[in-house]
Amino acid sequence: MKQTDIKELIKWYTENKRDLPWRRTTDPYKIWISEVMLQQTRVETVINYYTTFIKELPTIKDLAQVSEDKLLKLWEGLGYYSRAKNLKKCAEQVIQLGLTNLPQEEDVLKNLPGIGPYTAGAILSIAYQKQVPAIDGNVMRVLARVYEENRSILENKVRKSYEETLQKLMPENYTREFTEGFIELGARVCLPKGNPLCEQCPLQKCCQAYIHSKVLDYPVKKVKTKRKTEEKTVLIFAYHKTYAITKRKESLLNGLYGFPSYPYKMSLEEITEKLIKEQNINCTIVPLEETKHIFSHIEWHMTNYLINLQDPPVKDNFYSKEEILSKYSLPTSFRKIFIKISEYDIL
Ligand code: ADE
Repeated sequence: MKQTDIKELIKWYTENKRDLPWRRTTDPYKIWISEVMLQQTRVETVINYYTTFIKELPTIKDLAQVSEDKLLKLWEGLGYYSRAKNLKKCAEQVIQLGLTNLPQEEDVLKNLPGIGPYTAGAILSIAYQKQVPAIDGNVMRVLARVYEENRSILENKVRKSYEETLQKLMPENYTREFTEGFIELGARVCLPKGNPLCEQCPLQKCCQAYIHSKVLDYPVKKVKTKRKTEEKTVLIFAYHKTYAITKRKESLLNGLYGFPSYPYKMSLEEITEKLIKEQNINCTIVPLEETKHIFSHIEWHMTNYLINLQDPPVKDNFYSKEEILSKYSLPTSFRKIFIKISEYDIL
C-alpha cells in the first residue's frame, strides 16, 4: 500500500461514510463508549444504546459516579456485561487521576482497565488525531487480502506487525478518516466469506489477493497448534560401506525411505542390551551426534547410532551411499544424519 492508495481510501470514506451518532463528535469519552459497544455488537443495535447512554451519562465523571444498577440497566440486552463494568472502573481511575477525560498518552491509556491496543488506537486516532492505528478483526481481514498475508490473522504477532505498517502509512492530518476508513471498508465492502464487493473497493489497485484472484483464500485463520515433540532412536546398520534402509509405513513420510528406529530415546547401554544381548547381533555400536528435525506439527529429537555389523546381513536392504542418495527418497531428517556420517569419516 502506498500513500496514493491511502488517499483513495480516505476519499472513498469521506464520500461513502454512514452518518452514525459517534461520527458527529470528537469527544474521546463518547468515541470510547461507541467503540466498546461496537466490539461485540452490530452497528444497528448500538445506535439506540449509544444515544441513550450518552444522554444519561454525558461525561466520564457521570459514568464514574453512576450506580452499578443503573449502568447495567443501560447495558441491558447488549451482552458481555464485563464491558460495562470495566467502563465504570476505567472512568473511576481517570477521575482519580484528576483528569476530565481519557488521557492522550498511549502508554497511560493502554494501562487503564478494559483498554486494549484496538480501543486505545481508536480513541487516539479518531478523537486525538494521533498516529496510532486501530486493528480489529475487520481491519485485519482487509490487510490480509491487500498483502496476501499467509500467516494466521489470529496470531498476535501478525496483528502487531500490521500496527507498524499502518502507523507508517497514517497521514498526520487524517488520522480519523484513516482509522474509520479501514473500519468502514471492512464492514461494507471487504466482507467476509463469499461476499466481498471488490468492484466498489478503493484499494482494488493495490490488493494483491484481488490482483491474483485469490480474495476468498484470505484471511487465513488457522490457530497455530503447538508442535508435539517426539523422541526417536535411529539405527544406521552398516556392513562394508553399505547401509540398511526401509520403506516407511507410518503416515508421516509414508512411502519414503528411512533408517530403522524406535519411537523413544535409548541410551548406549539400552541399545547394546537390545541388539547384542537380546538379538545376538555381532556388531559394534557408535553413538552419533543427536539431531533435531522440525515438521509442521511434530518435532523429532533423534538419538542416532551407527551399528557396524561384523557378519553379513541376513536382509537384502543394504545399499551403497551413492545408491541411497541417488535412487531412494531419503527425507531430510534422515539424510542429515547420513551425510554427517560421511563427513566425520567414521566408515
Ligand atoms: N465498528 C467498530 N468501530 C466502528 C466505528 N467507529 N464505526 C462503525 N463501525 C465500527
